[in-house]
Amino acid sequence: MYRTNTCGELNIANVGQEVTLCGWAQRIRKMGGMTFIDIRDRYGITQLVFSNEINASLCEQANRIGREYVLQATGKVAERSSKNAKNPTGEIEIIVDTLKVLNEAATPPFTIEDDTDGGDDLRMRYRYLDLRRTCVRANLELRHKMAFEVRKYLDEHGFLEVETPVLVNSTPEGARDFVVPSRMNAGQFYALPQSPQILKQLLMVSGFDRYFQIVKCFRDEDLRADRQPEFTQIDCEMSFVEQEDILNMFEGMTRHLFKAIKGMDIPVLPRISWHDAMKYYGSDKPDTRFEMKFVELTDILKGYGFAVFDSAAYIGGICAKGAASYTRKQLDALTEYVKRPQIGAKGMVYARVEADGNVKSSVDKFYSQEVLQQLKAAFQAEAGDLILILSGDNADKTRKQLCELRLEMGSQLGLRDKNKYSCLWVVDFPMYEWSEEENRLMAMHHPFTSPKPEDIPLLDTDPASVRANAYDMVINGVEVGGGSIRIHDSQLQAKVFEVLGFTPEKAQEKFGFLMNAFKFGAPPHGGLAYGLDRFVSLFAGLDSIRDCIAFPKNNQGRDMMLNAPGELDPSQLEELNITTVIKSK
Ligand code: AMO
Repeated sequence: MYRTNTCGELNIANVGQEVTLCGWAQRIRKMGGMTFIDIRDRYGITQLVFSNEINASLCEQANRIGREYVLQATGKVAERSSKNAKNPTGEIEIIVDTLKVLNEAATPPFTIEDDTDGGDDLRMRYRYLDLRRTCVRANLELRHKMAFEVRKYLDEHGFLEVETPVLVNSTPEGARDFVVPSRMNAGQFYALPQSPQILKQLLMVSGFDRYFQIVKCFRDEDLRADRQPEFTQIDCEMSFVEQEDILNMFEGMTRHLFKAIKGMDIPVLPRISWHDAMKYYGSDKPDTRFEMKFVELTDILKGYGFAVFDSAAYIGGICAKGAASYTRKQLDALTEYVKRPQIGAKGMVYARVEADGNVKSSVDKFYSQEVLQQLKAAFQAEAGDLILILSGDNADKTRKQLCELRLEMGSQLGLRDKNKYSCLWVVDFPMYEWSEEENRLMAMHHPFTSPKPEDIPLLDTDPASVRANAYDMVINGVEVGGGSIRIHDSQLQAKVFEVLGFTPEKAQEKFGFLMNAFKFGAPPHGGLAYGLDRFVSLFAGLDSIRDCIAFPKNNQGRDMMLNAPGELDPSQLEELNITTVIKSK
């Protein structure tokens, strides 16, 4: 037997027991005639003690131990004279009588501690060492617990976990595919699934009724803090349901997770239409931990000779409570913030509500106090509040800029507390969105999403205004999940493809099997998928989903540890019938 206990479980109740522990030497300290080694495993850290007086040769052996050596130590549990309240094993130590080095270790390239000295790249290259750090491991433990609770909830509600294939077909729409050449089918390629969308719909045709899968999905898109090229979905689908049934079922799952993992009772999720989300927050994933809703000011501020506003298609603002004390320097910095190319505003106007109720703005020469009081009333602003205003010739673009400003103000005023959660549903998404790149309408969610029944006639007359039975769950400004009621009628599906610009032949080629399947009795169905990585990182309070993924990719899509992607041998390429390869730079 290698060990009697783990390094995280011994306490004052074990004093006097003879124990054997195994783990890694985290820290070695020599003090006078004593040597202390902190031994670490997945469960915690325990202090080992060696005394020169009691056993000089053993103490000498301990002095030769290096960081991260793998040890087996046997000894007696003793009460510590100086206790460490921060460590669960901090009341005891082990007076070692036998020490065995199970394996030596090269000096690690960074210290294996919460506050490590290793930079991002180094830690990614040695991810297996980074994973030894308690704070990193805790994220993966949380991930395990959340996936476990998800399975428990869904199992209790009759969902079956079914695995779907990873080598599938490329489908148009959505992101770019990752592709895999087929050796046995020269010149042909599989694509890795961006999601199991079509397959889960086919499972509904098969009568599986309630499906789920915690599944890897692959998308070749630009990476950000909340995007990885391979990520994990909690993918779900249900038959004989309406939107309401799905929202209730998954609101229930979210409630279960908050309770089981965080011990929190969350309120009923508010629902906001996509249209209102854009109007009041300039985003389809509003951070509702704080108010600061947009107020449109076009009617109030236009027509007073201030050319910037007079020529604008949209003027809108936010009111930051209690922020009138912002200095000129802070306001200039905010102006610079919104003028950065990533945001692209031309400038920012501000107005302070002073202690006497008067409003002082940066464009006072154009506006009388009477107009400024209308401005104040529009926000129901009070003394001490700060109003920030943006304008532009494109309402949607300006709202997006105002959204960035709102988020920045929320951060600056400490309103985006990671320990506070605000969940909501965004519903009634538009069916289509215009793509400048493709110069055509594209599916906003995906082409299998059902239009709202009352909007179906608009497919012929005004498709851009058709709303879908599609919904997203948003937590703290993060889209954690999204889905829709699906089309289950092959004629309606054909119509939707037509609006997307697919010829009947192309639709048949790409989705023929789905439309055919629908001819064999497709039940009404719908579903959604959560991004597990995003859900876990929200619960862990992380800035990037990378930190809750065991072996993530960097922003160039590289695995720094495996050094993937890499080149192939010419013989492998030949076998795959790939004759031309453009060499990487
Ligand atoms: P959607 O494309 O909205 O829907 O994806 C569902 C959820 O997956 C997460 N997500 C990602 N997480 C990390 N990295 C990425 N690159 C990434 N892309 C998406 C998000 C998102 O809300 N088949 C549909 C679902 C359905 O209709 O049932 C789908 O994939 O949290």
